[in-house]
Amino acid sequence: MKLDNQNILLGVSGGIACYKSPEIVRGIRESGGQVSVVMTRSATEFVKPLVFQALSERPVATSLFSLEEENQIGHIKIAERADAMLVAPATANIIAKMAHGIADDYLSTSFLACTAPVFVAPAMNHHMWDNPAVQHNLDILKSRNLNIIQPGSGYLACGSYGTGRMAEPADIVSVLEDFFSKTGDQTGSGSPLKNIGVLITGGPTGERIFAVRFLSNDSSGKMGYALAECCQQLGADVTLISGPTSLPEPAHIETVHVMSARQMMEAVMERSEQTQIIIKAAAVSDFRIEAPNPQKTKKSDTLVLDLVKNPDILKELGKKKGKDQFLVGFAAESQDVKHYASQKLKDKNLDLIVANNILQKDAGFDVDTNRVLLIDSKGSTELPLLSKEDVAQKIMDYILAQDKCQSIIKG
Ligand code: CTP
Repeated sequence: MKLDNQNILLGVSGGIACYKSPEIVRGIRESGGQVSVVMTRSATEFVKPLVFQALSERPVATSLFSLEEENQIGHIKIAERADAMLVAPATANIIAKMAHGIADDYLSTSFLACTAPVFVAPAMNHHMWDNPAVQHNLDILKSRNLNIIQPGSGYLACGSYGTGRMAEPADIVSVLEDFFSKTGDQTGSGSPLKNIGVLITGGPTGERIFAVRFLSNDSSGKMGYALAECCQQLGADVTLISGPTSLPEPAHIETVHVMSARQMMEAVMERSEQTQIIIKAAAVSDFRIEAPNPQKTKKSDTLVLDLVKNPDILKELGKKKGKDQFLVGFAAESQDVKHYASQKLKDKNLDLIVANNILQKDAGFDVDTNRVLLIDSKGSTELPLLSKEDVAQKIMDYILAQDKCQSIIKG
């Protein structure tokens, strides 16, 4: 069945479309999934929690202040267990709370604590739907990669005609099924990297020269961020360690911001032992200024910078790599790409290196596309020019197909 073993957290907010939500629970169960239901107080005015409890065969959460429901900080646990969260119906009110991080009930706190992909099925009067405030809030949610399930048009509960009717339960369940079939692995189960810790570094590092100036490079961070999103869709527990970039923080991915190579080293080393797959896509500065001037250095005719070598984070990871760790590096080269990248694969004890020629205009730093060569102990595979999202998907497909990765996944 398409939703086999998937744990769906269903948030029900208070609109008349609530009467359709039990059908969603039934549809998810029929498709093999499990459902935990969280209701707002207004939703309980429309449908009794008992209906959801009977259909889901799980307790229904309604109050943050119930000793029984919250005896183990339930809103955090329920969110952590979810493979996806669905809010249906989503009223204008809950959409606004989700967009602005307001957490004042079980549903809104669970949403903030949920790191899984989130689906939102709005339902409201058509004037409310058309209101710029609502549309703006929906745009915020879309920009954070939440999946909005478009409401239909027709006669609404309030008697008027227009857009705002919640999508049909069967269609909502199909959206979830499609999502899990697209992110499924070869065996058909939804999340091949479920319970696997993945640590990704992305972006440049910045090495302070003096107050307000630093040494850096052209890396935009797009490759590392695309890998983080891809791994999250594959069900992994992702941590992204990001150097200074102008990219928006990916929704529902733990992102740690660092500036210098040494800060990146510290953030990576703190987490590396609990992580099974490490991908070092960051463009790390090889050098730093040992004692940057904390003041603004005043202008002079010349400025001589005394640089010292930074630690090689990837090499350190390679030295202490465990049997159950898959280590991936990147190689930014301007000549003899295969030769230099193969050397880095060996010197840094990697399982895979992703190499590219940074002098190509449409690949590498600060562009949306990349053309890479995957090199491991078995040989090399050249990928065509692709968007960075597609490159990320291909890299992960390659990693997932490796025996070592499969044995890590099987534990
Ligand atoms: N890397 C790192 N720490 C450094 C330098 C590089 O962890 N101080 C990692 C990068 O994140 C990348 C890989 O090592 O995954 C290769 O980086 P690259 O800049 O291509 O090569 P370097 O090892 O720095 O060697 P060179 O500059 O001589 O090409």
